[in-house]
Amino acid sequence: MNELRWNPLLGTWIMVATARQNRPHMDENFCPFCPSSGNVRDYDVLKYDNDFPALMVAAPKIKKIKSVLYKNEMAYGKCEVILYSPDHKANLFELSDTHIEKIIDLWIKRCKTLSKNKKNKYIFVFENKGEEVGVTMLHPHGQIYAYPFIPLKLKTELDSAAAFYKKNRKCIICQMNEEEVKSKKRIIYENKSFIAYIPYFTDYPYGVFIVSKKHRPYLADHDSEEKSNLADILKVIEGAFDSLFNRSFPFMMCVHQCPVNSPEYKDAKKYFHMHIEFYTPLRAKDKIKYYASSESGAWAAANVALSEDTSREMVSAKLKYLAKSDIKKFKEQFFHEFQLLHGTGNEQIKIFKAPARINIIGEHIDYNGGYVLPCAINPGCYTGLRKRKDKNIVIKDINNSETIVLKANIFNKFNRKNTWSNYPAGVLNEFYRLGFKLNSGLDVLFFSDIPIGSGLSSSAAFTVSFAYGLSYFLGFFIDKKEIALLCKRAENNFVGVSCGIMDQFASALSKKGSAMLLDCANLNYSYIPFNMDNYVMVVIDSNKKRQLTESKYNERTRECKIALKILNKKIKVNNLCSITPAVFEKNKKLIHDEKFLKRIKHVIYEHERVKCAAIALKKNDFGQLGKLLVKSHISLRDNYEVTGYELDSLFEIAINQKGCAGSRMTGAGFGGCTINIVRKDCIYDFKKNVLEQYRKKTGLYPDFYVCEAEDGASEV
Ligand code: GLA
Repeated sequence: MNELRWNPLLGTWIMVATARQNRPHMDENFCPFCPSSGNVRDYDVLKYDNDFPALMVAAPKIKKIKSVLYKNEMAYGKCEVILYSPDHKANLFELSDTHIEKIIDLWIKRCKTLSKNKKNKYIFVFENKGEEVGVTMLHPHGQIYAYPFIPLKLKTELDSAAAFYKKNRKCIICQMNEEEVKSKKRIIYENKSFIAYIPYFTDYPYGVFIVSKKHRPYLADHDSEEKSNLADILKVIEGAFDSLFNRSFPFMMCVHQCPVNSPEYKDAKKYFHMHIEFYTPLRAKDKIKYYASSESGAWAAANVALSEDTSREMVSAKLKYLAKSDIKKFKEQFFHEFQLLHGTGNEQIKIFKAPARINIIGEHIDYNGGYVLPCAINPGCYTGLRKRKDKNIVIKDINNSETIVLKANIFNKFNRKNTWSNYPAGVLNEFYRLGFKLNSGLDVLFFSDIPIGSGLSSSAAFTVSFAYGLSYFLGFFIDKKEIALLCKRAENNFVGVSCGIMDQFASALSKKGSAMLLDCANLNYSYIPFNMDNYVMVVIDSNKKRQLTESKYNERTRECKIALKILNKKIKVNNLCSITPAVFEKNKKLIHDEKFLKRIKHVIYEHERVKCAAIALKKNDFGQLGKLLVKSHISLRDNYEVTGYELDSLFEIAINQKGCAGSRMTGAGFGGCTINIVRKDCIYDFKKNVLEQYRKKTGLYPDFYVCEAEDGASEV
């Protein structure tokens, strides 16, 4: 049964389409939109007539209702599906620019064709993405509805635009663009033809609008340059959405343009212009903002966030997305944000990056003088630098609204209020201590896409990117090893964390495609090729946060010092890692305290495991490496006692998955991340199962990063 029924209270049509109730829920192994199904031909992009349409060209006849109040009409119109890509798992932002342009071309072609039918009054291009908005077909696609009436929301927008035009002789959307540009506060991204912002009045926290800069009433009015710029901005915004919470971000994307074949809106072209409205139901990673009673029943939206704040989050998500997908555009955007925050200026801006790290094995070993086996991974901390005319060092951070001002060449004091500023302040003090002088002030901008408190060494990346940047920008050219040491001193002496050298060393000196075998007793190091063939390294953030300074990290370093002192009564060694397992077993009766015994046991056997792991890695023996990882985690859990419920749950769940060769926590522990060696062909199920089971067990939503070994500190 298909018909239009009039809602006399709202004055609009309802599309009754009972066949839609029978839409199948797709099973995982069959997708009618994949060319392999035989249901569609091979394609790049494809228009496909909806199998369960609400509106039809050959609409079924209806029986007219006899009523004073009610009326009905035939459900004329058209419902089309626009298939974005033959790749079942692709997201729009993962497609090439030219491919996205093909989608836009197809939208336009269909809009033009559908407009020719005089019965169609409004052509609505849209996309529903994600299960949260009721998507049953996961294959990437959008849709087009050609309505035989102007839907109420669009009519309301058009009427407001007409009223505004009558008073101001101006298009309402052009005016909105002007106000947003003037305010600057809510702009996320722009290119030559389009601008993206979360408008002042948005009802969803992340409700981005993409608006044409020129007055373009229809999608079809854009020339080829504008179309390619539309592809660009769609890619950046949708990429940023998925980077925002590190998960597939559900949305409704709605293209608003002028109506067609509607004499009552014949002037709409003057006062209304094409734009895209995103309706985004998430208000946090795993929290939905429902369109509930006030919103649905009264059309009164209650927004839980300020669009000024969520726009800043989206700017950060944009940089995060670009840092991993398009480094050239990342640089452009970083410069742009730099000038927005620090003002424009003629002096050159340079950007330096220091990466995050994982430690493959050798945990809590560095401050005990043994071997560790870390490597750098892709997220990183970026430092932008520009000289100033005065002697101020003005420090800003994209993810933080506070500005810190320090004075060049004057030793800094610890800041209790803005604790993050102690990292750069500590680094500067170390430069002064070494006799380096700054010949000018600096504008500094930080951006980091390393999750804080996740055990991926966000603080070492922070100090190393700043120190390395300063050294190169100001022409000191300090050796990278010295940079690592200098940053360690800054953390030990100024910030107050008794960390070892591993993180700074890995962040400064890692090499792409290699792990680093570092002897922390003498800082000798070598690289071991890290080619994973059929495996991948999956880093999972438990999202149980910790902070090194507040954690029991310093307590463990103290315990090791005491244990060493006790053993030193009989065995003269400089550090715990100089003791072999055999010597330890012979002398362990010296330690009476069970706790100290467990700590030493971990350190000595973990040190052995690093040596075995280096051999396994050289042989590309991931089965063996995996076993060592598992032993390491068990020892960190039972002997060193630095894991905790969340990390242990992740570990247990992971090692029980098909294709997982090994798993363990990485970094200091007490929350943070695990690393997992997973067979490539099992990765999809691995992620799915771990996500489900971990959420069920802990209520937390984990993040997944598939990582490769990357280079250490460099200029971007
Ligand atoms: C933190 C410290 C490192 C190291 C690890 C544990 O990341 O900064 O020096 O001790 O914990 O292995």
